[in-house]
Amino acid sequence: MSPAELHALDQAHYWHSFTQMAEYESAIIARGEGVWIEDVEGRRYIDAASSLWCNLHGHRHPKIDAAIRAQLDRIAHCTSLGMGADVTVQAARGLADLTGNQLPRVFFSSDGSSAIEVALKIAFQYWQQCEPAQPKRTKFLALDAAYHGDTLGAASVCGIDRYAALFKPLLFDVIRGPMPDDRRGTAADFLTPLAQLFAAHGDELAAVVVEPLVQCAAGFAMQPLGFLRGLRELATKHGTLLIADEVAVGFGRTGTMFACEQEGVLPDILCLGKGITAGYLPLAATLVKEEIYSAFLGPANSGRALFHGHSYSGNALASAAVVANLELFHQEETLSQLSAKIKHLANWLARIATKPGIKNVRQRGLIAAFDTLPGAGTQIAEYARTHGVWLRPQPNFVYVMPPLAITLEELDTLMQTITTACDLALTRQ
Ligand SMILES: Cc1ncc(COP(=O)(O)O)c(C=O)c1O
Repeated sequence: MSPAELHALDQAHYWHSFTQMAEYESAIIARGEGVWIEDVEGRRYIDAASSLWCNLHGHRHPKIDAAIRAQLDRIAHCTSLGMGADVTVQAARGLADLTGNQLPRVFFSSDGSSAIEVALKIAFQYWQQCEPAQPKRTKFLALDAAYHGDTLGAASVCGIDRYAALFKPLLFDVIRGPMPDDRRGTAADFLTPLAQLFAAHGDELAAVVVEPLVQCAAGFAMQPLGFLRGLRELATKHGTLLIADEVAVGFGRTGTMFACEQEGVLPDILCLGKGITAGYLPLAATLVKEEIYSAFLGPANSGRALFHGHSYSGNALASAAVVANLELFHQEETLSQLSAKIKHLANWLARIATKPGIKNVRQRGLIAAFDTLPGAGTQIAEYARTHGVWLRPQPNFVYVMPPLAITLEELDTLMQTITTACDLALTRQ
């Protein structure tokens, strides 16, 4: 099919996510290689948002490609209801290992939102059937501007009105704490009001839900140091479960395998998605402590099982990608390779920070963002796109979250383009 035909069909049939279709300008990707994606016209772009925070080792990594192809020769999918694929067993073991087996039980689902749904249901059901049960613990505490997904349970704990306000009548009530943001205060500034909420509601809370270190969808709000640990302490003090949503920040994005590690925090429930398959296939996982899992055990007719599942939970092809992804972290020493890239990115950001009109330059690992004058963020993204860098356009800020596999030279190309775009956007104001 010609590009023109594809664009016409795209406009006619494909309703895109989070996109105002009345203004949608068709962009169709034909292939990818490493950090590059290429559209049907043959234009190449650095995938600076990692295909919405999913891709880790680059597109078409030979080892992940081979693992999926090899799995295809055995079986593409079998159900997780009462059985499961051998490769999914290995994926579960690999994920549990990443937590030092402190979260040894792994429930698979299909995407980040469903990993959150599962976490909420597990937390709710746990308190109904743990010993002794605490049936009053039915509420959730979540943070302002939090983003945990778009299905109705996940949307209930979201705090971004633009996405969820319309659906309020369909959502359950949540106790809402402040968004921790190091542009606006210290850890104590946010923990103090949270301590008050815990004091008022602690014994009715099933769990508190948090995006560790960075609330990406909130405009890359970065938490002050010590916030996450303080929240863990409050949850422990009030006997509440801590759900860490590492769907966006997990798998090395912040410089460590999991963001929680940087604050020495072990959550009770950990939600993983996006990078779990290195950005290849839809899969998510909810990992829990043994003591939580045990509360679900009993005779078949006890009603204690977790009655939740998705047709493609624990899909075999996706599990093969998980196993290959985790192997690559070892073979390519992905995490230790990151420190030079993180420093390199910091150097570029320091230059950008000196420009007039640029504020709040911030970074955690390979996640970086800065605020711009109103509207300049969109201009910067437009310039970048016409110069071979794909950024997700945002009116008032710019962020980069490239695949972990990006080289220093590619990082130079990416950041030079953004730096030039900043200069042009500022002179045009
Ligand atoms: C922190 C966080 N949680 C959950 C989700 C939802 O994941 P998904 O889009 O795979 O449903 C996202 C997606 O961006 C996210 O950033």
